[in-house]
Amino acid sequence: MDMDHGDMEGMEGHMDHEDVPPLQASEGTQELVIPPLLEKQKGSEFDYEVVAQEGTTQFFDGSPTKTYGYNGNLLGPTIQLKEGETVKVKVRNELSEPTTFHWHGLEIPGTEDGGPNDVIQPGESKIVTLKADQPAATLWYHPHPHELTSKQVFKGLAGMLYVEETETDTALPNTYGVDDIPLIFQDRLFDENHQLDYENLMNSDGTIGDVSLVNGTLNPKLTVTQPLMRFRILNGANARNYTFRLSNGATFTQIASDGGLLREPVETDEITLSPSERAEILIDFSAMDSDEPIAITDEEGNALLPFDLDLNGETGGMESISWTADTAFLTEEEKSLPVTKEIELYGMMDMVTINGKKFDPDRIDLRQEKGVPEVWEIYNKPDEMGGMIHPFHIHGTQFKIISRDGREPAPNEQGLKDSVLIEPGERVRLLVTFPEEGIYMYHCHILEHEDNGMMGQVEVY
Ligand code: C2O
Ligand code: CU
Ligand code: CU
Repeated sequence: MDMDHGDMEGMEGHMDHEDVPPLQASEGTQELVIPPLLEKQKGSEFDYEVVAQEGTTQFFDGSPTKTYGYNGNLLGPTIQLKEGETVKVKVRNELSEPTTFHWHGLEIPGTEDGGPNDVIQPGESKIVTLKADQPAATLWYHPHPHELTSKQVFKGLAGMLYVEETETDTALPNTYGVDDIPLIFQDRLFDENHQLDYENLMNSDGTIGDVSLVNGTLNPKLTVTQPLMRFRILNGANARNYTFRLSNGATFTQIASDGGLLREPVETDEITLSPSERAEILIDFSAMDSDEPIAITDEEGNALLPFDLDLNGETGGMESISWTADTAFLTEEEKSLPVTKEIELYGMMDMVTINGKKFDPDRIDLRQEKGVPEVWEIYNKPDEMGGMIHPFHIHGTQFKIISRDGREPAPNEQGLKDSVLIEPGERVRLLVTFPEEGIYMYHCHILEHEDNGMMGQVEVY
C-alpha cells in the first residue's frame, strides 16, 4: 500500500523510538500488588473460572478510575498449570461489549485459542480445555476481540499463565509471591479526571503513556526478603518497548525467554522486551550493597520498581544454578531448511499491513501441516520515515529464532519464543512448528496495529 502523504492528519501522532514520552519514576510509596493465584474449583464441571468484568481502581487520591479486570477490578489472577496437565476453564463475559479469552503462548488447538474468531458476547460463557503440553514457561492471557483488543488491555484485562515444571530439577526459586514474583510492566495515559478514556487518549500507532504501572500498582516498591529472587517479567504494554536495567549497574541472570528455559543461563546487565515478550531473571541481592538504592529501571534510568531489602539468610545460592542443554539449539539441518513462508510487515498508524493486506476474518492467508517445521522469514520493510519496530507474534506455537539478518541470535534468544522484536529493515528467520491443528493468528503485538488489521491467519491441518 502506498502511503498517502496528502493526508497528514494525525501524522504528528507517529512516534519514532526517540520521541517516546518518558515514564515517571516510581515514588516507591506502595507495596507491589502480587496478583492472587487462581484457586481450583472443586466438584464442578470445570477447574477454573475466569470472568471479564468492569470495576474501579483507586490509583490516585480523589476520583476512582474505571477499569476492567478478570475476577476483580484490574488485571487478573495468575493461573498455574502443571506441565502435561489438562484443565477446563469456564470463561464468562460480564463486560458490556464482546470479548475473547486468548492464552498467549499456549500450544493448544485453534478451537481453544480464543482468537478474534471466538467471540464471547456480553452475558455469555463457555468452557475451554487447556492442555499444557509444553515445557514450563511464563505465558499470559488477554482479550483478543478484533478492533477492541487494544482498548480492553489498556483498561486492565491481562493476567499471567504459568506452566510449571512437575519436578523441580533446577534449583530455581519457585515460591510464588515470595522468591518468585510476576512483574507485569505497563505504561498508561490517564485523562484529567484520572480515567483511562481509551477512545480519547488512544494513538493509532500505539498508545504510549507516561505513567508506569507494575502489576497495576502505581508508585510500587517491593520488599525483598530472600537473597536470590526470580522475576517473571512481562511487557504488557500496548506499544512501549522497555530496556530494563538495575539502578546500581549490577548484572543479573536471564534464565528463560517466552517459552521456557534458555539453553543456558545468560548473565547480562540489560534486557529489552517489546510488547508481549517475557523474560525470567534471577537477581542475587546477597552480593549487593544495601545502602545504595536498588531498583529496576528503564533505559532512561527511571526507577520503575525500587527494592527495599530485608534479607533473611545471607547467600544467594547462585552457584547451584547452571545448566547447558545437551543438544544444539538448532541442528545444521534445521538451519539449512529453505524459507517457505515470507511475511512482510509494513506501515504505521492505520496504514499497517502484512504482505500488503489487512486482516480479513474470512481469508486464510497461510497453510501449514501440523508437526512439520517450516522456516518463516519476517521482513520489517522500512517506509519513507524510516519505519518502526514491530513485535511479531504467532499463536499456537513456540518457535526458535534461526537468524537475524543472517546472524545467529543472541544467547538470550536461544530459547523458545512466541513473539520477536523486529527492527526496521531487519529480516528474521524463525523455525515454526505447530503441534496442534486449527486456525491461528499471527500479528504485530502493538495492539493498535493488530486492531488496525496488521494480522493474518494460518490454518494448520
Ligand atoms: Cu498476545 Cu494474538 O496475542
Ligand atoms: Cu497470542
Ligand atoms: Cu506494528
